[in-house]
Amino acid sequence: MSKPIDAIYNRVSTRAFLKKEIPEEIIYEILKAGTQAPSSGNMQPWEFIVVSDEERKEKVVSATFSGFYSEWAPHQKWIGLAPKIIIICINTKRTKSRYAELGDKWTLIDTANAVQNMILTATEYGIGSCWVGGIKEKLIKRFFNIPSYVNPIGLLPIGYPKENVSYKYKMDPKWITHADEYNNAYYLDTKISNE
Ligand SMILES: Cc1cc2nc3c(=O)[nH]c(=O)nc-3n(C[C@H](O)[C@H](O)[C@H](O)COP(=O)(O)O)c2cc1C
Repeated sequence: MSKPIDAIYNRVSTRAFLKKEIPEEIIYEILKAGTQAPSSGNMQPWEFIVVSDEERKEKVVSATFSGFYSEWAPHQKWIGLAPKIIIICINTKRTKSRYAELGDKWTLIDTANAVQNMILTATEYGIGSCWVGGIKEKLIKRFFNIPSYVNPIGLLPIGYPKENVSYKYKMDPKWITHADEYNNAYYLDTKISNE
């Protein structure tokens, strides 16, 4: 059986980039793919800041941390070498006016949907990317003049991959799928599985 969407299987987090600009038409296609995602009440809470300027990229890097969070955790310098860094933001205003406190959770889910669309579209164009969650939100807000009702939730550095990255092990569905109730194996017949 052929794979339904190649990009799902070809995608890998990319952390080293060529010094090669991405055409603006492709940037637009990536952003547009994000905007096609499902969202609670179709409130489309995502907003993006595309950072190209070198000094501003350094600002982004200075607001990152790697490993476990601590004030002294090192910055993720590799991000600064991406030709574009997209700051992923959620604007909770519309969703919260409709769904009150549920909006906090749902805007995150909505925006994760959008980012996955963007990542897969980038993959289709041969562009690598990586979700980056290690950000100091307050600093990003200050550096990029982000208003109080908008929150940065991560970064998506994008660029043409510099090297081949090895694929990470992914658990087979048989390990995480339950039949009718929790802890009832859905896949008893191991012939279906790839493992
Ligand atoms: C919400 C989220 C936050 C992440 N944060 C970081 C990060 O701060 N730095 C980083 O290098 N990778 C980060 N990653 C990428 C993961 O490390 C990566 O997706 C995981 O190791 C699986 O590898 P793969 O994407 O190549 O399949 C993050 C991924 C997600 C979904």
